[in-house]
Amino acid sequence: MPVDSDSLAAFRKQVSSARSLDVPSWDASRHLVSPTNWPATRKTLTDAIEVSSTPDGLKQHLMAALPAVLGAEDRASSADLLKQLTGLPPTKALRALCVLFDVRPKSTTKWPLSTVSPETIDRFIQEHRNPFDVLLEQVPASVLDLGAGDLSFAEELTTLYEPSLTALNRPLVLHCLDRLDPSSQLGGPLHAPPLRLNRLRAKSGLQFRFYGDQDMFALDALERDQRLAARYLIVTCWAPATPTFAYEPTRLSPHCLAEELRRTKGDFRQTRHEKEAALEVQHAGRSLLFPPWKFDIRGPLALLELMATRGALCVLGAVDSQVCWEILSQLIDDPRVRPADLVLSSETLPEVFGETYRRLSALPIGGSCLLSDLAPLRQSFPSVLRTPSDKPASYRFRQVRIQRGALFEGIPASSTARRFQNMAEETPPWLLTLVPEPVAPF
Ligand SMILES: C[S@@+](CC[C@H](N)C(=O)[O-])C[C@H]1O[C@@H](n2cnc3c(N)ncnc32)[C@H](O)[C@@H]1O
Repeated sequence: MPVDSDSLAAFRKQVSSARSLDVPSWDASRHLVSPTNWPATRKTLTDAIEVSSTPDGLKQHLMAALPAVLGAEDRASSADLLKQLTGLPPTKALRALCVLFDVRPKSTTKWPLSTVSPETIDRFIQEHRNPFDVLLEQVPASVLDLGAGDLSFAEELTTLYEPSLTALNRPLVLHCLDRLDPSSQLGGPLHAPPLRLNRLRAKSGLQFRFYGDQDMFALDALERDQRLAARYLIVTCWAPATPTFAYEPTRLSPHCLAEELRRTKGDFRQTRHEKEAALEVQHAGRSLLFPPWKFDIRGPLALLELMATRGALCVLGAVDSQVCWEILSQLIDDPRVRPADLVLSSETLPEVFGETYRRLSALPIGGSCLLSDLAPLRQSFPSVLRTPSDKPASYRFRQVRIQRGALFEGIPASSTARRFQNMAEETPPWLLTLVPEPVAPF
């Protein structure tokens, strides 16, 4: 079908202004016409031309002008046609057509996303004792460490996995955050020592980031600016903070929580320490100072949702018994393990958990079991966070492995996990490995 000269002139003018008026799209179009991206771009561009209001004759010529493969033999004839239609040399002509027909690169994310399926992770967990070994099997090898404290876990993980990954020519992505403000005088040994931070930052095979003064439940800005990945292979949390995660606020009323905190910790009040806000607690005849948010109660549901919606695999290490039972009370299907306003304690646990309590208490240090062998797992978790639209609103765990103890051979551990060994009065902590999966909405 012939194209009249007026239509051709008008079209060339459109091409030229599309290119000069939309500079960001023009710049981005460079990636669209790389030899690797061209086949996908060509398909999108042909579809866009097809549904456009361009006159039919012109459409046919445009389609004929798009080379199937860049740099192939039909290049010369295609180049001539493109020149006639757009007045531009081939690559510029293709880029300008992309801009004119609104073909844009798919949004690229700074960090590689984990897309491994829950089934694959489940299989891995059944076959391997060390959940972190999945870093050697799945791409990307990415970890988010929540409440990372002094970064001792981060350093152990790096020492164990970075050399093997580097040998495979694969980076280890390790992002850590903690609510403690690095400039605060409170928090003592939980601060990340500058030397360790520098060592981690200097590792060439490690894509390491540390965000201090960062509440794990306020990640919007970090996620928006892509300072965090949208999804990691592993999300981990070592020695989850107490009392923050030791009580579930959807189960225990504010009055019950306040009473319990006063009974177990002592009187407390917000105060100031030099120039910063602080929490003052009167405990066993002493006045102790903590960061002002120390007694913020978020509960296990918030932590589980945060981890399940950001990781293909969730690992909670050195979980103290109180936090562990509060977490288990959310993981088990039977609602009777979530009694309203009853604080879980050594007196109430046997009654609330029955046989599950007896069997887990009998687990020796180093022992391991699947929670589903003790009780049916909960099938859907209520959302307690404002979940971003790209995350599943409802989730569950298809597998929960429970291991007793703080340290396991070959598994990296945090400094709090290592300290458990010297705490004679503490009962042994737990390691929980959970495989999350989204629950399809009805
Ligand atoms: C018991 S310490 C464990 C530190 C480290 N993971 C370890 O095992 O040695 C708990 C850590 O969680 C941090 N934390 C408490 N609440 C937090 C929150 N909402 N967001 C981020 N970090 C938090 C604390 O500052 C503290 O460093």
